[in-house]
Amino acid sequence: MRKAIFAFFFCAFSVAATAQTQNKLVINAGTDGPQISKYIYGHFAEHLGRCIYDGIWVGLDSNIPNINGYRKDVFEALKALQMPVLRWPGGCFADTYHWKDGIGPKAQRPKIKNVFWGGTVEDNSFGTHEFLNLCEMLGCDAYVSANVGSGTVQEMVEWIEYMTSDDDVEMVNLRRQNGREKPWNVKFLGIGNESWGCGGNMTPEYYADLMKQYSTYVWEYGRDKMKRVGCGANGEDYNWTRVLMQKGARNMDALSLHYYTIAGESWNNKSAATGFDESLYFAGLRKALRMSELVDRHSRIMDEFDPRKRVGLYVDEWGIWTDVEPGTNPGFLFQQNSMRDALIASATFDIFNRNCERVKMANIAQTVNVLQAMILTKGNQMVLTPTYHVFNLYKVHGDASLLPASLISESYSYGNEKIPALSQTVSRDAQGRIHVSVSNLNPAQPVKLLVELNGQNVKKVNSAIVLTAPFFNAVNTFDKPETVKPAPFKAYKLVSENMLEMTLPSASVVTLELQ
Ligand code: AHR
Repeated sequence: MRKAIFAFFFCAFSVAATAQTQNKLVINAGTDGPQISKYIYGHFAEHLGRCIYDGIWVGLDSNIPNINGYRKDVFEALKALQMPVLRWPGGCFADTYHWKDGIGPKAQRPKIKNVFWGGTVEDNSFGTHEFLNLCEMLGCDAYVSANVGSGTVQEMVEWIEYMTSDDDVEMVNLRRQNGREKPWNVKFLGIGNESWGCGGNMTPEYYADLMKQYSTYVWEYGRDKMKRVGCGANGEDYNWTRVLMQKGARNMDALSLHYYTIAGESWNNKSAATGFDESLYFAGLRKALRMSELVDRHSRIMDEFDPRKRVGLYVDEWGIWTDVEPGTNPGFLFQQNSMRDALIASATFDIFNRNCERVKMANIAQTVNVLQAMILTKGNQMVLTPTYHVFNLYKVHGDASLLPASLISESYSYGNEKIPALSQTVSRDAQGRIHVSVSNLNPAQPVKLLVELNGQNVKKVNSAIVLTAPFFNAVNTFDKPETVKPAPFKAYKLVSENMLEMTLPSASVVTLELQ
């Protein structure tokens, strides 16, 4: 058993080689690795800019076609994505949110100022019912972030009761009065957000005590229904993880991690989402790949206190953060989304997937119109981003078994730096189908790859899809919404029962289904 585990980890590493090297992916299909949680393909929607209002919710009186107030086009696109989990209401907004503002007759809901995001007036027309009904309609699990920064234990407990209880008690009867008889199923509860920053500027020691206090009552009221998510570290703040695990590993089911990719030099110079050159293309990918080191080092600390990996690592905010689109409100974080960003998504998924014994959830920031979004909207128009298409290509890996695979990859060099040109995930689903996803990060060179399958023969290739673009910085716009879109992939050949040859176009993601 020990040997098998060692072999698996050994095989999961990629090896960067020179340009002359034969790129090769060797898959051990005779062994099932750990399960890749479907929640790795999760999402995040905050009351920020035009994510909720305009992006998801337009209200019943809108001219934009809607289903009970939800934008029809966006709803249908999200449904097609089979999103497994949606995190809400923030983000920084969560620690200013008082849930009772968002229930009851809409005209009576108080208006509040959204202090973190643009100072806009929040009319609370999208609240608990609107969020949880959306999750039910989408068939996804709900991840609710409770207010620790400016809330109270009592406020959180009453929210839990309101959402999940069937008892004859005040909060539940209030819910019934507001039109919802049966409780909703809320699977995940975040105990604060970025408590080291916008969520209260706390030290890890102080937050750990608070987390334990709050989490006691989640258990008491939510019983076994909810996974309690402790607020985790900002990037490489390993001390935060250590203190939380040391003091509170038994009081939480998961610990989060936030990491954003900044292609530019700093947060003050993030760089544009469009029209960037190869140096920013390369920098974006190189910095996104840092996720590997972060996950590895946080996991190792978690292993010290939780060797059986009971506590999940939830990367519940990730993605590229660029300058906002010129002319848009800087507080709204509206940015375009390019082929580079699609590759950031695929390479990041590969990192999460190969660490799926610890990484049990990830939520890209954010679903619509904010940061690395799946969907952009303008009036009644909607465009699917390159990142949306990667989620669609990768959803086949959700809840599948990771297959051990070793990759020999040439490097992609820029200036004095280099990264592996190739990145991969291979998994087997419940029906026994093998899905191979490979990305070529090199924006100028197609890459030839030999794929060898051991332990199982390939009878046929059921499907092969490629996502690529005319330029590495290509985007989908409202005028040209299909510049970057998936297409059938033909550049492969089954050379024997267990050997495939393929040529990956420059800057591309390919997913094959083998049987
Ligand atoms: O996703 C945007 C913001 O980034 C979130 O509100 C916050 O948690 C993070 O700093």
